[in-house]
Amino acid sequence: MSAVIQQQAGFDVEAVRAQFPALHQQARGQRLAYLDNAATTQKPQAVIDALAHYYSHDNSNVHRGAHALAERATEGYESARDAIAGLLNARSREQIVFTKGTTDGINLVAAGLAQTVLKPGKAVLVSELEHHSNLVPWQLACQRSGAELRWLDLLPDGSLDLSKLKDKLRDVAIVALGHYSNSLGSIHPVAQIIDAAHAAGALVLLDGAQAMAHQPVDVQALDVDFYAFSGHKMFGPTGIGALYGKAEVLDALPPYQGGGEMIETVEMAASTWNAVPYKFEAGTPNIAGAIGLGAACAWLQSLDRPAAGAHEAELLEAATAAVTAVPGTQLVGTAAAKTSVVSFVADWAHPQDIGAIMDQAGVAIRTGHHCCMPAMAKLGLPGTVRASMSVYNTSDDIAQLGDALKTAHRLFA
Ligand code: ALA
Repeated sequence: MSAVIQQQAGFDVEAVRAQFPALHQQARGQRLAYLDNAATTQKPQAVIDALAHYYSHDNSNVHRGAHALAERATEGYESARDAIAGLLNARSREQIVFTKGTTDGINLVAAGLAQTVLKPGKAVLVSELEHHSNLVPWQLACQRSGAELRWLDLLPDGSLDLSKLKDKLRDVAIVALGHYSNSLGSIHPVAQIIDAAHAAGALVLLDGAQAMAHQPVDVQALDVDFYAFSGHKMFGPTGIGALYGKAEVLDALPPYQGGGEMIETVEMAASTWNAVPYKFEAGTPNIAGAIGLGAACAWLQSLDRPAAGAHEAELLEAATAAVTAVPGTQLVGTAAAKTSVVSFVADWAHPQDIGAIMDQAGVAIRTGHHCCMPAMAKLGLPGTVRASMSVYNTSDDIAQLGDALKTAHRLFA
């Protein structure tokens, strides 16, 4: 099957895999089949080298030191901002704010809007499928501002009910939506939602944590107001991410945190703010992480994205077939547009027990609610078993998943 997938997609997956050292190991004494990419991706050597180079040669603070190392660290940090702006097709580098990750970016926007446009009579629109990181910050913002929290309903196939979208958009200040669902893989029709939201006078934030590794994202083509994502889910380091914002909306947001670097002037009683994006980057940033993220952007840009997308589509098809071939399994999330995530349950075992058997077989997957408790409650499930594929997975990984699931079925059914 491996040869078939590689041939059909015209994509040299072994050349891609060769760049990821962590994939070439055993887990629990078995060949590792790493299928937990929605949780975090592995890192290519280029990213590992960028981190090691920074700490071995350039380690210094940024924007502050009057010396050669500080200049190189600043150059590396700011070049990473350029790389992100390039990857997203942002109009300018100033629209890229470094964050700790998607959660941090969403909290930054939610906290800022809670002090500005959110108030009684206004609403925030999310969906029942949101990751907790794109729900809880809005719950807090609504509690603090008196705004109303509204949501789009989750349909049984994992898509969203958009039939009442126009009504739900009344008095909405911001729509905050996952671009791709982490738990079920659904891809939402964001162009349609962004158009409708803008027509109703609402801003739109997309949680891009899952989408970034799977498709090129063009923020200008999307016409999205905010796009938040994490480095670690797109082959970069943990603890770093970025928030894209349209220039005027970033300008209008108050600072998120106070401290060094985010100020223009400081007096004992009050301060004024640095320009965007520095207004949002208080304190010494994650310099190494930013440089590693810049390397991940360059790595992604070196990929043949259409061929990589076709390869992932084949992995999704193969994984779906492997799971449904086992009696008593049921897919959770069958929306027409899906990324390479297969979530499922079985009528013969709890997801956690299936996960334990997979682990013994060297298959790394996630089980549980996937930080989407409202979605699981709506679907009436305690959780699912989730296999999430990436560009470096092969049909051997999928075969290993299928074999481990058959073993679990033999043991439990
Ligand atoms: N958001 C990550 C996941 O879906 C952690 O697994």
